[in-house]
Amino acid sequence: MGETLGAHVFRAKQIAGDFEARFGERPRIFHAPGRVNLIGEHTDYNEGYVMPAAIELGTFVAASPRTDRRLAVHSMQFDESCEIEIDAARPRGDWTDYVAGVAVMLERAGFRIGGANLLIASDVPLGAGLSSSAALEVAVAMALAPGPVEAPALIERRTLAKLCQRAENEFVGVQCGIMDQFIACHARAGNLLMLDCRSLEYAYVRLPGGVKLVIANTMVRHDLAASEYNKRRAECAMAAAYFGKSLRDVKLSDVDGAAMPDLLRRRARHVVTENARVLEARAALERGDLRAFGNAMYRSHASLRDDYEVSCAELDALVAMARDLRGVHGSRMTGGGFGGCTISLVEERHLDEARRALMRVAEVYVSSPAGAAVEIMDF
Ligand code: GLA
Repeated sequence: MGETLGAHVFRAKQIAGDFEARFGERPRIFHAPGRVNLIGEHTDYNEGYVMPAAIELGTFVAASPRTDRRLAVHSMQFDESCEIEIDAARPRGDWTDYVAGVAVMLERAGFRIGGANLLIASDVPLGAGLSSSAALEVAVAMALAPGPVEAPALIERRTLAKLCQRAENEFVGVQCGIMDQFIACHARAGNLLMLDCRSLEYAYVRLPGGVKLVIANTMVRHDLAASEYNKRRAECAMAAAYFGKSLRDVKLSDVDGAAMPDLLRRRARHVVTENARVLEARAALERGDLRAFGNAMYRSHASLRDDYEVSCAELDALVAMARDLRGVHGSRMTGGGFGGCTISLVEERHLDEARRALMRVAEVYVSSPAGAAVEIMDF
């Protein structure tokens, strides 16, 4: 934790320098983390359970205020600049939509934005399923409505998460659930977050020491990802309509006995069994049983592959590979699917071995559960 904060301050110093060179002012700097989901996939938009953690990769947004209702934005990652007129903001179909969308939703929620100069620097890989978009949205929202320095939490964090999700749903046009924005706002270092996506009640579950999150990036993102995501949402809505209730309230015996098309039955079965697996995984973690936790991860992957059909050959191969490595408790695809990353829980003493093996076929990031979005001070 201290190490991460130290690294953040170091990075913030550099970013402040870049900002001053570009905008001639000293900024305030905000940071929001990417995330990895340990278990509970495609359950958030079904009012179910998820168990993500923030990771040590994240997005920095440096900001200074303007008074002309404009956002002058520069992205270091794209090496691109743009100007957004808050009163005339329209989606353009690129990265600037996350910034404009958040500004529009803040205004709709009653926060008046004078305008801002913004510089964005991120180390969350794009399109890898590690929530680079949620990290950007949350850091931008904090930068645009920062509150006074002595009380930076102007917006209550649950509201902040919902507002960023709305930006993505209504402005960017992606029908994501609440998981990614919520974890960026509520993560706690060293812990997984157990979230009930219906009530938004949450609890922290400590990851035992000596275990690391090992993320393996297939570096592929199949074109179907967005359209298939929306299709799964629609199929879940159809299945829920069939049962006359949210899939959260459906029992496995209802699914097995239902006279419904096989495809809808399998979609429902994934959601119902996945919710049960999250509860099982939480209990396992609370009693320190990483083997049982890992076993739930493997079964989650199989269900996503066979019943929900959102995995792909590259993800399946990485999970199969991790399974054969020493010190791996569990492994599965993480995020929406159709490419992106796998997450494996790995014993620290076998970390080098596991990392080296996975690195032969994937880009690998090692992390501990990181903290939530913050304003970086004292840089
Ligand atoms: C994406 C979405 C999330 C969630 C996952 C699947 O990451 O943004 O809301 O639905 O897919 O679990």
